[in-house]
Amino acid sequence: MIKLPGLIDPHVHLREPGDTHKEDWRTGTRAALAGGFTIVLAMPNTRPPVTDAETLSLALKAAGEGACCDYAQFIGAGAENAAAAGQLSRQAAGLKLYLDQTYGPLRLDALADWQAHFAAWPKHLPISVHAEGRSLAAAILFAGWFDRPLHLCHISTRDDILLVRQAKEHGLKVTCEVTPHHLFLDSASLDHLGAGMASVKPPLASPADVQALWDNLDVIDCFATDHAPHTLAEKQSPTPPPGFPGLETALPLLLTAVREGRLTLDDIILRCYTNPQRIYRLPVQTSTWIEVDPDARWEITPDHLQTRCAWTPFAGRQVFGRVRRVVLRRQVVFEDGVVLAPTGSGRNLRLESRRKFLPNGQI
Ligand code: DOR
Ligand code: ZN
Ligand code: ZN
Repeated sequence: MIKLPGLIDPHVHLREPGDTHKEDWRTGTRAALAGGFTIVLAMPNTRPPVTDAETLSLALKAAGEGACCDYAQFIGAGAENAAAAGQLSRQAAGLKLYLDQTYGPLRLDALADWQAHFAAWPKHLPISVHAEGRSLAAAILFAGWFDRPLHLCHISTRDDILLVRQAKEHGLKVTCEVTPHHLFLDSASLDHLGAGMASVKPPLASPADVQALWDNLDVIDCFATDHAPHTLAEKQSPTPPPGFPGLETALPLLLTAVREGRLTLDDIILRCYTNPQRIYRLPVQTSTWIEVDPDARWEITPDHLQTRCAWTPFAGRQVFGRVRRVVLRRQVVFEDGVVLAPTGSGRNLRLESRRKFLPNGQI
């Protein structure tokens, strides 16, 4: 058995408010615990999207009632809310800018809107972007121009990872994440999954792109699932929404790569704990760890998943490594397939009162 820190997933979609037939705070954070994650950062493309004080409190109320692990909530950047978002920065995981079309209404097209957000969001707090190709290049330009930290979500192609490498070599304050599905699936998966099931933004890339991610591992700061549940019926419909669930498959896939000699355990700890904690300035969870059996061999199936969407693009894959136990603040919250955390026991890591109580950064 090996012991690891409680993992941090800096990029999940929990669908509440608005789309709880796909997922909600309870089911999504139960999936997180089952996957070895004790902190999740929730994206703002809910219905309504989280863009102001009112929608933030709607999301945080649902989180307070439902969350089983710790969390923080992103604010979404819109055309009109730069000042309002800036004022909410201390209560948010970060600010999310959607610079390309993806799921939901949040998309920023006008450069003037990007500029307003880059100017209004406090410099010591992260801005995160969904940006592919040319948008990624433009976002990196803004990071340099404003001389501020910028986190680049789900990098998936050779061109993009090389761009991030160059930005870092130029001394820009950029960090990036890569998803397990962009590391362990490629465009060939479209054949066996079918186009709708395989639809995801950014799209699954060529084998050469996937290889480039592995070849540039040193540039990758975080592994993030981009857990994006949609129902099977939606994925199989004529208009399939993009996205995969990923919380319960990420660690076994990464541990299997360790067994194959493609990664080390330290690579995982750095990218699933140390770096997300540093980038998002998250507190340390005391007496928190996960216990993993690295030798347990099993086949990924949709059975027994905690996520409400109840499917996975990795079905049929043989993996090594199983989460046996998760301990959060001394409490056993997951053990051998059973989630034990009381509903609503997760903590909002951006709550003001908590910071005042524990100035040493621990919770
Ligand atoms: O595939 C995706 N699904 N990519 C995104 O950027 C959004 C996500 C979602 O919310 O479904
Ligand atoms: Zn995205
Ligand atoms: Zn996402």
